Amino acid sequence: MKILVTGGTGYIGSHTVVELQQEGYEVVMIDNFENSQPFIVDHIQKITSVRPHVKQVDLRDKAALYDVFKTYSDIVAVVHFAAYKAVGESVAHPLKYYQNNIGGTTNLLEVMQAHRVHDMVFSSSCTVYGDVANPPVDESAPVVKANSPYGNTKKICEEILQDQTATANLRVVSLRYFNPVGAHDSALLGELPVGVPNNLVPFITQTAIGKRQKLTVFGDDYPTADGTCIRDYIHVVDLAKAHVAAISYLKKQAATNGYYVFNIGTGKGNSVMEVIRSFEKVSGTKLHYEIGPRRAGDVVQIYAVCNKAQHELGWKASRDLDNCMQTAWHWEQQLKNLNL
Ligand code: WQD
Repeated sequence: MKILVTGGTGYIGSHTVVELQQEGYEVVMIDNFENSQPFIVDHIQKITSVRPHVKQVDLRDKAALYDVFKTYSDIVAVVHFAAYKAVGESVAHPLKYYQNNIGGTTNLLEVMQAHRVHDMVFSSSCTVYGDVANPPVDESAPVVKANSPYGNTKKICEEILQDQTATANLRVVSLRYFNPVGAHDSALLGELPVGVPNNLVPFITQTAIGKRQKLTVFGDDYPTADGTCIRDYIHVVDLAKAHVAAISYLKKQAATNGYYVFNIGTGKGNSVMEVIRSFEKVSGTKLHYEIGPRRAGDVVQIYAVCNKAQHELGWKASRDLDNCMQTAWHWEQQLKNLNL
């Protein structure tokens, strides 16, 4: 019995493969390696002593996808990560995002149906909530018009999955991630941004290691305690464990079809300045940053209510912001040792 992980060499995908293997699952990973590196498979094996099955496959290539399900005829569930995720890039190249993120998902659904694979865990995002007036936000909050084509692909994919589970023999858990950060305790897995990082934490660690001159804080004039935006930073290993819990949850469902949504965060909001202070504390280094103008599209604050995941998945985040910064920093230092 195998679990197929799409985007398996990506940041969250690779950590999830490790947790699935450590839970005893046999894993098949597919990835087009456009935004990830094949050496990640060796590092997964170093951590778990088990090499996952790996195929270089692009979800836009439906024939290749059919071949995967023909080769591994005992796939029982799919964890679907493969997607482009850079908000800014999606604004510049919307069609690329719609073709890949939505086309890849509909191809996957078609092939799953043809091979009678009925369970999927989908990588969604808190971005579907847009700008939330009164955080924290639970799953009953309205899904609004996304403020980027990237966010819109997550919203549209959720709608496609909801429609498909209403008619087909399909059960889907959509996990709405807040802000994934940190790295594996082994420092063998972590975030590998392509080019200049869009996200806060890799920019912090690359500044601290000397890859970047300085961090620009995008605005300190927001209506928050210290003027900087607030987010719910969730450790990537906690997030990976939520996917294992979601697979177990689906296996326990009596219904043959259904659509289930869960917020995956810590339930705590931290500002950009609090993240910087935490990093400086755990790394013992002073971060070189300056205050710059606001970034278009940023929401002021968003953080999660995760009671539903706790009660129904039996999952709760266990790591705090300091551990996120510590593991992110160790990973950045490891990358330097590997000359990556
Ligand atoms: C966090 C805060 C920035 C960089 C995005 C996507 C979301 C998910 C996670 C994929 C904000 C500030 C950042 C910098 C800064 N992606 N910041 N200087 O925008 O909350 O979420 O990534 O699933 O869908 O929307 O994350 O890390 O980019 O920003 O001041 O150099 O850090 O303004 O307040 P974001 P982020």
